[in-house]
Amino acid sequence: MGTARFSLLRTLADGEVHSEERIERTLNFSPVEVSKLIGELETLGLRVLKRKSGYCLEDRVELYDANLLAERLERESPELRLDVLDECTSTNTALAERARAGAVHGTVLVCEHQSAGRGRRGNAWVSAIGASVTFSVLWRFSQGAGTLAGLSLAIAVAVAKALERLGVRDVCVKWPNDLFCGERKLGGILIETTGDAAGSSAAIVGVGINMRLGASVSERIGRPATDVVTNCKAVPSRSAVLVELLASIVSTLERFSREGFAPFRQAWLERHAWQGRRVVLSQADRRVAEGEVVGITEDGALELASERGIRRFHSGELSLSLE
Ligand code: BTN
Repeated sequence: MGTARFSLLRTLADGEVHSEERIERTLNFSPVEVSKLIGELETLGLRVLKRKSGYCLEDRVELYDANLLAERLERESPELRLDVLDECTSTNTALAERARAGAVHGTVLVCEHQSAGRGRRGNAWVSAIGASVTFSVLWRFSQGAGTLAGLSLAIAVAVAKALERLGVRDVCVKWPNDLFCGERKLGGILIETTGDAAGSSAAIVGVGINMRLGASVSERIGRPATDVVTNCKAVPSRSAVLVELLASIVSTLERFSREGFAPFRQAWLERHAWQGRRVVLSQADRRVAEGEVVGITEDGALELASERGIRRFHSGELSLSLE
């Protein structure tokens, strides 16, 4: 869905000065509309400067290249049905609505700007326009939701491998499905499933990757975070990142639906940030265990060793122990 303010943003995205007269003529906006839309862009966190000869953005913005996306997806992931939105609240929320209305297997929603991006455990997912890659994939499984344990870990491996192929250094995974570079978070995965434990099921696989974090976004995230730009010599475009991620995720989803998590376990362990470290596991913000990370099981459960022996956990949040 194209919005008027994004039509203006597309014109200004290159960071060059564009005359008012040309903007009004090419976009068919009145002067009053242009100044209203500029105000809207500023509320989205962009700075629009008024120059003698027209308007420009303080910093250029990298938007998706629709032609490149269509062409490369057609070639590399023809099974996907891609829809690129200018704006939505959250691609997971929007895709869940479409899934309830019958959207087909393989529908992908990509969005330039999420106004209410969601993270795990009710957290917000913060990103700025042109500075992250955020999308969701609808995947329908013939088996029940009970068989999807470990899916989020398999997707973390798919994302890590795609980022490595794009030249991002030192990508690692943190249980259950965070993407880290060193001790800083690079991206996250939010999987929401529907269906019976036994019948068929569906998953909305939401992925958010930081491409470039400005100071204000880093501040709003409030936790150590990093981005692709910092961890990559030849920075790929957002479109190239999206295409690579989708291809990797699709092949993982296909294999996972046949074989479950087991074939992805070794690749996950090879990238495990906190293997052997002493950690605290919390559930619903309550500390429930502390111990040394032994590894993960064939269905993605975390194994922790403590004086009480080895215990397995299927959900929770990890932090490094201060001891
Ligand atoms: C996390 O680490 O907490 C998970 C973050 C997941 C963010 C992505 S961005 C695309 C999709 N839409 C959302 O609202 N969330 C996911």
